[in-house]
Amino acid sequence: MKSGVILVFCLLCLSLSVSPSWGSDDRRQKWWKWPSTGKSICSSVVLPLYGNVYPQGFYYAQIHIGHPPRPYFLDPDTGSDLTWLQCDAPCVRCTQAPHPYYKPNNDLVPCKDPLCASLHSGDHRCDDEPDQCDYEVEYADGGSSLGVLINDVSLLNLTTGVRVVARLAIGCGYDQIPGPSYQPLDGVLGLGKGKTGIVSQLHSQGLIRNVVGHCFSSRGGGFLFFGDDIYDPSRIISTPMSRDYTKHYSPGYGEIIYGGKATGLKNLLVIFDSGSSYTYLSSKAYEGLLNKVTEELRGKPIQEALDDETLPFCWKGRRPFRSMRDVKMYFKPLALSFSSGWRSKTQFEIPLEGYLLISAKGSVCLGVLNGTEVGLQNFNVIGDISMQDKMVIYDNEKQTIGWTPANCDRPPRSDTMTI
Ligand SMILES: *[C@@H]1O[C@H](CO)[C@@H](O)[C@H](O)[C@H]1NC(C)=O
Ligand SMILES: *[C@@H]1O[C@H](CO)[C@@H](O)[C@H](O)[C@H]1NC(C)=O
Repeated sequence: MKSGVILVFCLLCLSLSVSPSWGSDDRRQKWWKWPSTGKSICSSVVLPLYGNVYPQGFYYAQIHIGHPPRPYFLDPDTGSDLTWLQCDAPCVRCTQAPHPYYKPNNDLVPCKDPLCASLHSGDHRCDDEPDQCDYEVEYADGGSSLGVLINDVSLLNLTTGVRVVARLAIGCGYDQIPGPSYQPLDGVLGLGKGKTGIVSQLHSQGLIRNVVGHCFSSRGGGFLFFGDDIYDPSRIISTPMSRDYTKHYSPGYGEIIYGGKATGLKNLLVIFDSGSSYTYLSSKAYEGLLNKVTEELRGKPIQEALDDETLPFCWKGRRPFRSMRDVKMYFKPLALSFSSGWRSKTQFEIPLEGYLLISAKGSVCLGVLNGTEVGLQNFNVIGDISMQDKMVIYDNEKQTIGWTPANCDRPPRSDTMTI
């Protein structure tokens, strides 16, 4: 062993990660993979992301679950807590998935478990079926998943090179109703801050700090991370999470800035939601922004076009646009401004790439949609499109949301990580 201190930390991590019937070979591998520097043993998990905002419409992560571990493609969703898989329990209603449906073990989470209670608001009763925890999650787009909570293991690589087996409560979803923005995946990776969220579960096992973040690349792909040792905190711009609205990751109320100028479109309750590929504004703010944008286009050689049925506002030029560079003279950058303490403000900058996209036909389309129309009421949702090429960090311990411009093309390698 390299040093006593490392050993103590290691034992802490390993003893807290349950690895019941795992082969002794795996365990030996863990011991041999100790990092030579040993900066921080309980470190981070980094997962590559695949997919893009357009044309695919979603990003996904691969995680391994079960014994033996099988891969699943999951939608990383900071807007919800529960991780669930389409499940052969048997399945009543499942959608098409890239992998065979998850086959549950019989390690059911009992109804009395606090994790089960956290999925049920108020009316949580266990009289009928005390041995199992039924759940139903509903998403903003009207989609839902119904199932039962199961304990199973997930194989995770820590950035230190240590491989751990984490025991997680996950949903075995055997009845899914797809919403309009449904994605052909194996399930959802719940990154919300609730008790059932994967970050909270890994944190309670002593594996990581209660921090989650993502980096979506505008060229597709990116990475996701749990824990806090892959970024330099001094480079992060951050703002406190709202204390009034705590269900989602929200910095509270914000104002839209267009081309560097305040627009008066303010008191907008904002949520950061990686489960949404586009950004949604509530009706009034949406109309306000649309007015600003069309005002700016008046008299310019660009015309409204009907292009993509999911994107109601597109414009075409004399020749098809190929990249954002071609439309730079027509649009201005956006930003959202949040108050982050007594008289101090923080801006979340949204460059053209963060709210516009070039369609397959070469038009430029608004990637901001009318949230009121899809039932989001007064919420304003910052979706993947506006979070591209930024590291976005949700720190549930400091209760802050932070971001910094970043190259998201490749996950940082552990030996070059900053602490
Ligand atoms: C963990 O890392 C090893 C190699 O270091 C790799 O083969 C394996 O696929 C990784 N496992 C997961 C779950 O990412
Ligand atoms: C936004 O949606 C609401 C509700 O459907 C609708 O009343 C309003 O006209 C829409 N605004 C625009 C600009 O489409």
